[in-house]
Amino acid sequence: FHRVPFVLANWKINKLQGEVKDFIEKVNDKVPAADVVETGIAAQDIFLADMIRETAQSPVQVVAENVHWEDSGAFTGETSPRALADIGVNYVLIGHFERRKFFNETDSTVNLKVTAALRNGLKPIIDIDEDMSAYAQFMDAEPAVAQVAAALAGVSVDQIRNITIAYEPTWAIGSGEAASAEQAQKAAHLIRQTLAHLYSPSISEKVRILYGGSVNPDNASEIMSQPDIDGVLVGKAALDPDQFLKLAQIA
Ligand code: G3H
Repeated sequence: FHRVPFVLANWKINKLQGEVKDFIEKVNDKVPAADVVETGIAAQDIFLADMIRETAQSPVQVVAENVHWEDSGAFTGETSPRALADIGVNYVLIGHFERRKFFNETDSTVNLKVTAALRNGLKPIIDIDEDMSAYAQFMDAEPAVAQVAAALAGVSVDQIRNITIAYEPTWAIGSGEAASAEQAQKAAHLIRQTLAHLYSPSISEKVRILYGGSVNPDNASEIMSQPDIDGVLVGKAALDPDQFLKLAQIA
């Protein structure tokens, strides 16, 4: 089974309207075909509708950075998964480290959001972070395994095909210090083993696992060549269209 690599930019709350437009104009015609390398950009909700229009003729996926767990109702300031699907969004990031750290995202709200996204036909990209101390002590990914299981509670065998997992050790995010390709592979492999245990070995082979945390065009090639790593989730480096295109070409 061939997993199509995924190169995903996460702009967080950077960029203004004009910068968004310029970036998309620059990359639209230059990204690889979606069956070779899938490319996507996660951006603030206020830009998503424009971005969907501007990428209509291009394979670039427009991705939401967060979503609420109810489809509608009195939840001021939140974004409905049904509304995201309605404007043409396909993917949504769920449980990013910064959501967990600054906005009280927990394993249980992550799971509610994953379920809500799937119910509305959105494909979740579930972020798995990991404590630095655990890494330093045993080089294993025990907390990551628990997070995967919690995020996927109640997700069926049919639905798991629509899930992407992004492994982002907290200490590597924005620090300029990426995990080594070996560390990233080890964690990704453990996540795949967890999927095999929760579902089946053959299903675990169908789920994409991305690495994120200080990825740039210099370290991406070694990271992406690891057997269990199917792409990258990139913050800082992917604010620049040329670097984003380079990453897509490396994949
Ligand atoms: O979602 C992306 C990550 O938070 C990585 O950010 O590439 O700036 O380290 P970074």
